Amino acid sequence: MTDIIARDKNHIWHPFTQHKTECDPIAIESAKGASLYDHEGREILDLISSWWTINHGHSHPPLVEEIARQAAKLSHVMFAGFTHEPAVTLAEQLCQKLSPPLSKVFFSDNGSTSVEVALKVAFQYWANQGQEKRTNFIAFEGAYHGDTFGAMAVGKGSGYFSLYDELLCTVHSVPYAPTFINDPDVEAIENAAIDALETTIEQHGDTTAALIIEPLFQGASGMRFCRPAFVKRVTQTARNAGIVVIFDEIATGFGRTGTLFAHQQCDVKPDIICLSKGLTAGMLPLSVTVIDEKIYDAFLGDDFSKALAHGHSFTGNPLACALAVKSLALFEEENTLEKIASIEKFHQKFAPSLTRHEKVEQVRVCGSLLAFNLKGQTKGYKSTASLQLRDHYLRAGFNIRPLGDTIYLMPPFCISESQLSRAYDGLLQGLEILD
Ligand SMILES: Cc1ncc(COP(=O)(O)O)c(C=O)c1O
Repeated sequence: MTDIIARDKNHIWHPFTQHKTECDPIAIESAKGASLYDHEGREILDLISSWWTINHGHSHPPLVEEIARQAAKLSHVMFAGFTHEPAVTLAEQLCQKLSPPLSKVFFSDNGSTSVEVALKVAFQYWANQGQEKRTNFIAFEGAYHGDTFGAMAVGKGSGYFSLYDELLCTVHSVPYAPTFINDPDVEAIENAAIDALETTIEQHGDTTAALIIEPLFQGASGMRFCRPAFVKRVTQTARNAGIVVIFDEIATGFGRTGTLFAHQQCDVKPDIICLSKGLTAGMLPLSVTVIDEKIYDAFLGDDFSKALAHGHSFTGNPLACALAVKSLALFEEENTLEKIASIEKFHQKFAPSLTRHEKVEQVRVCGSLLAFNLKGQTKGYKSTASLQLRDHYLRAGFNIRPLGDTIYLMPPFCISESQLSRAYDGLLQGLEILD
């Protein structure tokens, strides 16, 4: 194990890591269900599903078999001028689940790029119709949509990317309406956020190509939950002004919030939706941008000038597509939504112990997700408590990676009640180390 760490340190630059101050990484040898195992066989419960990707569980046998089956048949082919059965089946099934007019699927291979595609499509939709003024976007304070340039621009409210500000396109930020259990102010906060959105639209609506929102919760900026009614009001307000609405369901999709897609709880649909992470049950990189038929139609023309100039070497990779099809089937075969409902009930039973806790505030539960904030600790990414806790939890055998002063659990859906009970006990014990 020490050998791997030394070799890693010789050559590897890890994501979102300050290598001068970070502890050594942990070398993982294998994983099964909700657990990771290091080279000494030590178990670490993966309570954040490895950056929210793993949903049915690590190395889930039907998925492992599916990769092997597809790899033996067709592992890759370029996707311009060629197509294949796994991509076609996946596109059909996603469109059927999302329902018309969301009916055109553009493939890419990570969440940031699916957002990039959504932004380019929205921008070009207007340009192709001669509306070249619509070049800006509306996004939410606290939003995170990835780390490529367009995604950084609409995610500037996350606070991660200020260094790059001058390189980014114009984005108008509006307030989100975060809430929690027994929040007395939620309506006032929502009303103020909608007022701010209306003002922004009055000022900039005719130069706005699209609005982008993470429905039901903003992930990376601290698991900030909003009510379904807020998502509905935002969507209707933008749509009344003719603005394209993009839902970023990269984190919220595939069961995390209790329904296959978060927006199914909001009684509204987007014009464009971005999906990734759980799309392949977290086993291979894949993402899609699913687009309204009328937007797609604006890209048709007699030469290339109106076409979308986008595509990557691994667009529509057959292994990843076959895996995604199998993962969708498992939602039915293994009653996955019922498993998520049981996790949610379990979280809800545990939530009062957190609400009563003197070091905890703003407890919230949504589907498989349980989150709260640390009372009296520095807010956001300057929180030193978060690093202290992360290291403590890892030593105790839990992969819990606080987001600033936000602690959360987002386990794989296969987690058992006894593993969850162990996680809750460990979570509470960790809080003891804080002043
Ligand atoms: C809501 C949301 N959008 C986009 C992304 C970017 O996805 P990726 O890291 O696969 O590029 C993330 C990643 O956490 C996310 O949570």
